[in-house]
Amino acid sequence: MKNKTVFICQHCGAHSPKWLGRCPGCGEWNSFIEEVAEESQAEYSFVPTEPLLYKDVKGAEKKRAETGIKELDRVMGGGVVLGSLVLIGGEPGIGKSTLLLQVSRDFCLKGEKVLYVSGEESLEQIKLRGERLGVSNGDLYLLAETNLERIISQAEKLKPQIFVMDSVQTIYSAKLSSSPGTISQVREVTNQVFRFAKKNQISSFLIGHITKEGSLAGPKSLEHMVDVVLYFEGERDHSHRVLRALKNRYGPISELAIFEMETSGLQAISNPSAFFLKERPKDETGSVVVCTIKGSRPLLAEIQALVSPTLFSGNPRRMTIGLDHFRTAMLLAVIERKLGFGFAGEDIYLNVAGGLSLDEPAVDLAAIMAVVSCLKNKAIPSDFALFGEVGLSGEVRSVNQPLARIKEALSLGFKTIVLPKGNLSQLEKENIADVDLAGVGNIKEALGIIF
Ligand SMILES: Nc1ncnc2c1ncn2[C@@H]1O[C@H](COP(=O)(O)OP(=O)(O)OP(=O)(O)O)[C@@H](O)[C@H]1O
Ligand SMILES: [Mg+2]
Ligand SMILES: [Zn+2]
Repeated sequence: MKNKTVFICQHCGAHSPKWLGRCPGCGEWNSFIEEVAEESQAEYSFVPTEPLLYKDVKGAEKKRAETGIKELDRVMGGGVVLGSLVLIGGEPGIGKSTLLLQVSRDFCLKGEKVLYVSGEESLEQIKLRGERLGVSNGDLYLLAETNLERIISQAEKLKPQIFVMDSVQTIYSAKLSSSPGTISQVREVTNQVFRFAKKNQISSFLIGHITKEGSLAGPKSLEHMVDVVLYFEGERDHSHRVLRALKNRYGPISELAIFEMETSGLQAISNPSAFFLKERPKDETGSVVVCTIKGSRPLLAEIQALVSPTLFSGNPRRMTIGLDHFRTAMLLAVIERKLGFGFAGEDIYLNVAGGLSLDEPAVDLAAIMAVVSCLKNKAIPSDFALFGEVGLSGEVRSVNQPLARIKEALSLGFKTIVLPKGNLSQLEKENIADVDLAGVGNIKEALGIIF
């Protein structure tokens, strides 16, 4: 029988019986590759059973194991769940292999057996990295192999507690004739590793490369197949790396961890607020410190604004990096209408220092004051920190976790905190010393206090 072939978009996974120049699904050009049609795709059911009454289902208590890297555990919701499959995606060279070799190191320090499979590096290369990371002689097994079936059979023989595969794009299943890295291959590999992890209750990590456009090959199809998706991100010009969860079947996805790459491996940045404020200019117009919350953790960040005359009149620029564009446009309108500033002939730039992105409304007040500081050409005192949501009437609204925000600012020596009046009244019973808490009801009041 002749194998049937099908054309598959490598970007979104759309199928077509014939080659297409442009994918009707996602609009990508030249993304179709001919692959052999698969008969057995995705019908996984590791416990084939009949319907069971809800009350008869045994309550599953999720067992978690700590990876030894506290920050990574926090992002995963308190360690890796036994038998779960975690996908870690990131751009080339960001530190994916480093992170997972560190995880392997720490697991075998605890006396657990680890199998680290690499389809892209030789054992010598891995060992070289291991020396740098201080891997000791525990039960860490390395396997340089790209054939999935051989890998799985080795893994079933070895029965490790932890299984790492580096990377999903370099491993191929002999069941399919398409080349490694194609969408049907990465799906098949993920599918088989998933079944292997569940069947043997082995916590597994899968590394995935992200293409230039910022997506894993076949991103959508991989993300829904695994239990946890983590993304490792970094700015080209910044030394820090941010690890965050995009999906988590066993915990929240709001957490994020910040690392720095050092010779001895990735080191968690223990005081992110201090890290992001390190290079803040003092007494400069347009610079302001905001008390924000990232995940469950308070973080101080610097918002910077710049206002300069428009080159082409009638078409002023509004640029934001790290803040929501539409929300910023709204805040600018509030400044115009409620504070009476005119800036139709000015370009306005807003930026969050350090490549952070802040997406909660609690940063509104700070963003507004950064712009006003430029318009008034007056610096905001450098020992001020701000937070509060701003509504269309210019009112300053309460936000969540005011105490955590205040404490973070206190710990870094800020002397005055401008916050929503509503939050201040919630804090009456708290014993907060050594700091001036200035509650404001609207942005006019804030202006009075700050300038
Ligand atoms: N001796 C060293 N000291 C400090 N940093 C180093 C050293 N050697 C390598 N690095 C850093 O480690 C990074 C590579 O890390 P790693 O190989 O874990 O990344 P990766 O995400 O697995 O990359 P790839 O996509 O190539 O698999 C390099 O970009 C470099 O910044
Ligand atoms: Mg690597
Ligand atoms: Zn497509």
